[in-house]
Amino acid sequence: MRHLLSPLDFSVEELDNLLNLAADIEHNPDKYKEICKGKKLATLFYEPSTRTRLSFEAAMLNLGGNVLGFSSADSSSASKGESVSDTIRIISCYADICAMRHPKEGAPLVAASRSSIPVINAGDGGHQHPTQTLTDLMTIKSLKGRLDHLVIGLCGDLKFGRTVHSLINALVRYPGIKFVLISPKELRIPDYIRQDVLEANSVEYQEVEHLEDVLGSLEILYMTRVQRERFFNEEEYIRLKDSYILNSEKMALANKDMLVLHPLPRVNEISVEVDDDDRAAYFKQVQYGVYVRMALILTLLDISVNEPGN
Ligand code: NCD
Repeated sequence: MRHLLSPLDFSVEELDNLLNLAADIEHNPDKYKEICKGKKLATLFYEPSTRTRLSFEAAMLNLGGNVLGFSSADSSSASKGESVSDTIRIISCYADICAMRHPKEGAPLVAASRSSIPVINAGDGGHQHPTQTLTDLMTIKSLKGRLDHLVIGLCGDLKFGRTVHSLINALVRYPGIKFVLISPKELRIPDYIRQDVLEANSVEYQEVEHLEDVLGSLEILYMTRVQRERFFNEEEYIRLKDSYILNSEKMALANKDMLVLHPLPRVNEISVEVDDDDRAAYFKQVQYGVYVRMALILTLLDISVNEPGN
């Protein structure tokens, strides 16, 4: 049985297969619409979410399966003190696969060690968010045609932003990737990513504070929200929250084919006027997130379209 806890749980070849499957699902949705009939996905969300939870549910429904779950710790027995280990043993009796979001780093790993069904990490604290990474990879591959030889700017809260941590982990395995890390000094990428991931893999990177200085050199700009819920101090959040605001004026400095990605939700970091720019890819990214989660569910449940009986 396989889980997805970190993007590194899949080899580059397995990732390629998964992205190819997601592309086939995108182009031939009818082939897959009954394939998970009788299967159940549980969504265990101890932290708020719109896209991730609903895209998992939409993915399972698109495959003909069913969904159950909870969308906040308050509405689950966690509020009575039940441990993650106990909850997962219970859920294993009700569902075939589950997606878990938790504010504590490592909670999905604990769950996986006790689970008899595949566990998908749908975001654990400031740590990892591997299914957002699958979404980001599919978006980049579909719209740029490749995952290698790219200059990628990551902008905003690089300290607490788990989507950024997971994306860097995944992309360092492709040749010719260069990262431009754009953040205020208080929100720089954590040392464990800089040393154990970027430097350990000899990946080229640059750290800067001003977006305008580097915009013209980027092929992809990945904007992120300042992660208010992970700050210890509200004043510090207020001081840093509007560090970067991408608007039409700044877009004029960028390449004509630079893509703008954002895991969403956005707060102020991208002005709505940018939404109409052809380079804005963040709403397309949401749609790719459904296809890739459909592909992930099939992969972890080991279901393929050619199997008799499916
Ligand atoms: C992200 C998350 O939850 O980490 N959102 C998402 O899943 N699409 C990004 C964020 O909350 O800023």
